[in-house]
Amino acid sequence: MTGLQIVYVRCEYRDNPIGLDTRKPRFSWLLSSDSRHALQSAYRIQAADRADFSETTLLIWDTQKLESDRSVLIAYEGEPLKARSRYYYRVKVWDQEGHESDWSEIAFWEMGLLGLDDWTADWITPDASVIDPYADAVFLMRKDFTVREAVRNARLYVTSLGLYELELNGLRVGNAEYTPGWTSYKYRLQVQTYDVAGLLCEGNGNAIGASLANGWYKGYLGWKQQRNLYGDTRALLLQLYIDYEDGTTEVIRTDGSWKSNTGPIRLSELYHGETYDARMEQFDWSCHGLDDTKWAAVSLVSHTKDKLIMQESELVRITQRIKPVSVWKTPAGETVLDMGQNMVGRLHFRVEAPAGTQITLQHVEVLDQAGNIYSGNLRTAKQTVQYTCKGGGEESYEPHFSFQGFRYVKLEGWPGEPSLDAFAGHVIHTDMEPTGTFECSHPLLNQLQSNIVWGQRGNFLDVPTDCPQRDERLGWTGDAQVFIRTAAFNFGVAPFFTKWLRDLKADQREDGSVPFVIPHVLGETDYGSAAWGDAAVVCPWTVYLCYGDKQVLEEQYDSMKAWVDYVRSEGEDPYLWNNGFHFGDWLGLDAKEGSYIGATPKDLIATCFFAYSTSLLVKAAKVLGYSEDAERYGHVYEQIVGAFANEFITPSGRLAAHTQTAYVLPLIFGLVDAPVKERLARTLVDYVEEQDGHLTTGFVGTPYLSHALTDHGYHDLAVRLVQQEDYPSWLYAIHQGATTIWEHWDGIKPDGSFWSDRMNSYNHYAYGSIGDWLYRAVAGLDMDETEPAYKRILFRPRPDSGLDYAKASYQSVYGKIRSEWYKTGGGLATYEFEVPPNTTATALLRGLKLEAVRVNGELVSEAAGVIEAGEQEEMLQLRLGSGSYRISQLHTSDAEWD
Ligand code: BGC
Repeated sequence: MTGLQIVYVRCEYRDNPIGLDTRKPRFSWLLSSDSRHALQSAYRIQAADRADFSETTLLIWDTQKLESDRSVLIAYEGEPLKARSRYYYRVKVWDQEGHESDWSEIAFWEMGLLGLDDWTADWITPDASVIDPYADAVFLMRKDFTVREAVRNARLYVTSLGLYELELNGLRVGNAEYTPGWTSYKYRLQVQTYDVAGLLCEGNGNAIGASLANGWYKGYLGWKQQRNLYGDTRALLLQLYIDYEDGTTEVIRTDGSWKSNTGPIRLSELYHGETYDARMEQFDWSCHGLDDTKWAAVSLVSHTKDKLIMQESELVRITQRIKPVSVWKTPAGETVLDMGQNMVGRLHFRVEAPAGTQITLQHVEVLDQAGNIYSGNLRTAKQTVQYTCKGGGEESYEPHFSFQGFRYVKLEGWPGEPSLDAFAGHVIHTDMEPTGTFECSHPLLNQLQSNIVWGQRGNFLDVPTDCPQRDERLGWTGDAQVFIRTAAFNFGVAPFFTKWLRDLKADQREDGSVPFVIPHVLGETDYGSAAWGDAAVVCPWTVYLCYGDKQVLEEQYDSMKAWVDYVRSEGEDPYLWNNGFHFGDWLGLDAKEGSYIGATPKDLIATCFFAYSTSLLVKAAKVLGYSEDAERYGHVYEQIVGAFANEFITPSGRLAAHTQTAYVLPLIFGLVDAPVKERLARTLVDYVEEQDGHLTTGFVGTPYLSHALTDHGYHDLAVRLVQQEDYPSWLYAIHQGATTIWEHWDGIKPDGSFWSDRMNSYNHYAYGSIGDWLYRAVAGLDMDETEPAYKRILFRPRPDSGLDYAKASYQSVYGKIRSEWYKTGGGLATYEFEVPPNTTATALLRGLKLEAVRVNGELVSEAAGVIEAGEQEEMLQLRLGSGSYRISQLHTSDAEWD
């Protein structure tokens, strides 16, 4: 078969999603081709409410053949979609020669409940006169019901105030954790959908049971020991639709007929852990026929249903189970398990002990100088699990509504010698699609990449958090903003950030300012810092760039604009942001003794971000066709650049601030032109050299420092900086045993002592933002922003990175991209690229000459797939169509990297 074929189709980034509430779901597909330079020239999408697509099938949408190269996120435009209905679709494409593909496999999507009218259930909670509504214990609620006859289909729609877990006939429903997830509950509360047909017993007695914990809704949240932030009553809302073979439907719903109780979970808090008494288990509590006469009634809770939305991002799940690597006794005589990896999730164990045996697990991230566990950095988060055995054979357990950030677990009360086999670390996070890999010849850089990925796993647990262990774990906007580009290499983060950005928009203040954390749970005055609030602009723009998702830009546009307008109204001068509270270059090493805030002037940082966000707003306005705004904010941008120059650049071209970060920002945000640019870059080099090739930057400067050096001709210094192994550097932490990214460059000092307990996370992804430089600048896998989402790929590999080889791969929305290089001796390197169908690439290869290069063994001029070739500015430039390429050098005039 020649031409393009469709490998798979997706709806809203997912395979066969159920429970959507978007009225215009979007379709994407991946293509394969056996020829090079394959492009799509047209497509056709058909949708129907049945799966057979025969001649007589009534279509609800048929695009007919549409001339277009679009294969990503094409929005449905057919008949209105109905709640709970399943729809099927298929796609075919034509390549640029007009070859028509086969139809894709038939896929489906299914709508969830679509609005207030679809909700007939009541919110329920245990009867407060019997069960203390403020009890720490997790509530149980249950109901028996009958399934009349053969079931065709069954769907459960459920949400809660607090966290829920569900069981049907004694079996767990689904595999999602910490549902309904964390959103700005005041405005948005997610509903999950489960296909439960397989759990029902036809023609028999059935039962459903729900556990209900405090979670983010009413549990401890934030470092001020706050509780009940969203409300003080836990409640459940559920509708179970049973569609029978005979065409009728029955709905089981939460109402006054349910029964309630408490069970074995005596306490469960996100930060503090769980207390579980297995002796209180009633194994059949979610099975039909349990004698629940002693259970309490439930009360109806009056709570709105108009904030309900269907699940937006991927669910949070257990994604890996890792075995501990050792168990030993510390100098203090404590028995400690080492997971070998700082991870986030829960410890699962199996144990056999007499009833009443109490086992306590305390979770920590690091050991102290003496080799004992260190819990000071957890602040008030207890991270402690207490389990009381029921006896009578092997029992197994893991907590339910709490998660821990840990590498080490102190075991108390364990019967006998613990065997490693009895334990497994369940790694839990939003189940995003892994998309990127980076590897090179430097083992410590590979460990760095691994630490970045683990940091992302641990902190992408439904919202992007600063850290996963201490009494914080909040959606800090600044941290998310600095890390998002790296995040989008490692995993598919579009749905994850789409959800979070909707919360940002919901929590944004009327004046356009953005709270420090999203969902917003801090104080009334906690909003507005530069580089933190800019997440409102940087994050939607990055999602658009990496995934071509225009809808995110459309949805967030008002929020982006409101932030820029807010900043504009803030400064005493409309084009300088020189007032208000700012975190500055947070944790910069040039901070004054005792301060967290680096030495870079805050008004310089604020004005640079003002310019940056305004420039992104202009780009967004252009993409969306808002030409008036584009022009208006383009003008604002010019004014900011002028005001910046006036305020911070001396007439002879020096910068009136003297830190690395101060030099990085104008360079990277394009606020200065030649010759000032060159001068700034040279001074930045001096500042880094003064530190013997080390950084002094904090949260704001670090993500861009190495890019600023590489982009301005000092890649060698960027390489030295990133490959430093002594303090302060990324690799220093690895020498100290880090398996995740630390909050502080010296979280553990060379003598093994710690940075203060007050603020010392060992799993803080912010400095992991270097990952994007590894992918883009070292392996050279980048995009040309004029055609986002890697529709036009840019390969800029750098064999002068002090390495023998580097390779990156990235599963883009068009398919797999690969950029690799390895040195072959004598100053030569070989390059390998993979370009997916329906994209093109530009490869920029430094120091290579046309005549001295072979592409897949052929002369460049004869090689299939090479669209254009030329030399410019010491670079060989190749335009490549889709396909795999191996580019080898015959000889080279300069061998500078050897
Ligand atoms: C968080 C940070 C955050 C910062 C604000 C800290 O407590 O952990 O990562 O950005 O506060 O400066």
